[in-house]
Amino acid sequence: MLLVIHIAILTTWIAIAISLSAMRSCSGQRVYSPAQEALRFEAHVWEPSGASNPLYAGKPTEARDKAWTELLQYSSLRFTVEELEMIGPTRKDEGVKLPDGGYLGTLMVFHELHCVKHLRFYLYAAHYFPELTAEQTKARLVHLDHCLDILRVGAMCRGDTAPLTMRWGRSQPRPLANFSSAHSCVNWDSLNGWAQKRAVTHLFDPGYLRHPVLGNVFEGPDAELIGLIGAVEVP
Ligand SMILES: *[C@@H]1O[C@H](CO)[C@@H](O)[C@H](O)[C@H]1NC(C)=O
Repeated sequence: MLLVIHIAILTTWIAIAISLSAMRSCSGQRVYSPAQEALRFEAHVWEPSGASNPLYAGKPTEARDKAWTELLQYSSLRFTVEELEMIGPTRKDEGVKLPDGGYLGTLMVFHELHCVKHLRFYLYAAHYFPELTAEQTKARLVHLDHCLDILRVGAMCRGDTAPLTMRWGRSQPRPLANFSSAHSCVNWDSLNGWAQKRAVTHLFDPGYLRHPVLGNVFEGPDAELIGLIGAVEVP
């Protein structure tokens, strides 16, 4: 009898020790996000030749503009007050309250996609901004420099260690990469589906979002092109 109790106690201790060490090894790596429940990791092999996806890459077309708009359609999200409290102790006090409940936010992945979208806009500036003033160009460059650095730090943060091997091409003497290695990726539909349920769809409606002192935020059809959300504050 005594032996059974001893074994039971020992087993419990071992179980606690294992779960504690598991928590410790996770807590240093995984930080809180309300979206963590939507994360499903799986192995993805990207385009083997490294060719760009013509749905998003290439000269401006109506189809590409539509694809980019759709990719970012759920990027403005509603967070609850409890979630803000989990993120940081002062977030709720400084937070942007939505008129129909919750607080405005997004996920970094959407911000990164926004950055890629705006870098692309500028790559084709003659098409997207045929009449920028010197002042507007300067403001845009401040924003795009911020975007480039966000993408740099994001790449370094994730440290995608998918190995790329080299191969010989047929028409040029330089080594080419074989891109068809597996990456550990989140399932985008799962993450985007989570975002869809929280998307703030009226954000760009004139009068919906108001600064408490300075008034209306979005007034006009160019709001998306200007991309004011998450703007870098102009001193
Ligand atoms: C790259 O490697 C894969 C196997 O991992 C192979 O099937 C493919 O032919 C290689 N070359 C290119 C250009 O992808």
